Amino acid sequence: MQKGVWPLPSDGVAPIPIAKPFLTEREYELVREVLDSGQLAEGSYVHRFEEAFAAAQGVPYVVATSNGTTALHTALLAVGVRPGDKVLTTPFTFIATANAILFCGARPVFADVSMETANLDPASVEAALKADPSIRYMLVVHLYGLPAPMRELMALAEAYDVTVVEDCAQAHLATLDGQPVGTFGRAAAFSFYATKNLTTGEGGCVATTDPEVAERARLITHHGQTGHYFHEVLGYNYRMTNVEAAIGLGQVERIEAMTEARRANAAFYTQAFQGHSFGLPVEPPGYRHVYHQYTLRVPGKNGEHRDQLAAFLKAEGIGTGIHYPRPLTRQPSLAGRFDVVGDGELPVAEELASQVLSLPVHPLVSEADRERVAEAVLRWEAQALR
Ligand SMILES: Cc1ncc(COP(=O)(O)O)c(C=O)c1O
Repeated sequence: MQKGVWPLPSDGVAPIPIAKPFLTEREYELVREVLDSGQLAEGSYVHRFEEAFAAAQGVPYVVATSNGTTALHTALLAVGVRPGDKVLTTPFTFIATANAILFCGARPVFADVSMETANLDPASVEAALKADPSIRYMLVVHLYGLPAPMRELMALAEAYDVTVVEDCAQAHLATLDGQPVGTFGRAAAFSFYATKNLTTGEGGCVATTDPEVAERARLITHHGQTGHYFHEVLGYNYRMTNVEAAIGLGQVERIEAMTEARRANAAFYTQAFQGHSFGLPVEPPGYRHVYHQYTLRVPGKNGEHRDQLAAFLKAEGIGTGIHYPRPLTRQPSLAGRFDVVGDGELPVAEELASQVLSLPVHPLVSEADRERVAEAVLRWEAQALR
């Protein structure tokens, strides 16, 4: 297996995947240390990783978990979500966001998103909070790595007495006016899945500024254990392993540089596509977008053009992704398990689902690669849309 050489030389024809973990000799060395130690389950590497990630992210308390979904479930439980509670959230996200709410016995209530940012639209959130005063929680996703409009959303949360949890699965090191995501709400969840900006293979964490929430999260992820086979509250086995944490320790040393590499690739695309027919990612003043995805909006009805472009790029050896092809309101597994306030329509989420297409933006996309991607996208546009 090729170990990370950075910047990666490109022969100009090799496939460019939509995602690829960036591993170096450092991760191999740390994993080997763990294997040699024989301490494969949770131990000192997990605790070192928690400290290192807390410092990198700028959040005081971090509790490592087995993945981002278990981190979300834990974060919701730790802030007090209970059966029957209503949790306002976005329909334009990965299913784990809504599933974690359901795992608590609570009910997702969906508000619509903004066409420009794909994040929750404060106007739609306010309409939902006004219409249903029984909503007590809000789960905010920072989609694609762009912070949600936290100033507006936190003001609404305060006005309507709603507790906020952040889904930071895609937003490591993202900030708003210099404030890191994960420090706005009462608790936050990160994912370290293989495709994420920082990976441990599978993995995640709860992050919080509140030591009591951190303590509850630690109990919940460790079977509620407070003493030797003594279990104070109902909990789960949601622990991270030392093997995973070793990978994360290597990654965290390079997370700032890897984030800048994503941002440089994104800036290149945005310049290349300026004045063309696509909707481009935005980075409003004060926002630091970390480009977990670089997602275009391809104009057209029913995803027809978007799907054509994806097929064209595939034939050119360029991987793409659709994040996401349908709003959560149209996932069969969620049928009958959620509310939509008002007329029940989420037109922006529906339109985005038919237009979005993500391009390779990860740190192993070389300068030659990104030039090839942009050239192919524009070649398709010239023949298909002009
Ligand atoms: C927005 C969002 N929330 C939650 C998750 C769940 O994370 P995981 O796959 O680590 O369980 C993911 C990633 O997969 C995600 O993208």
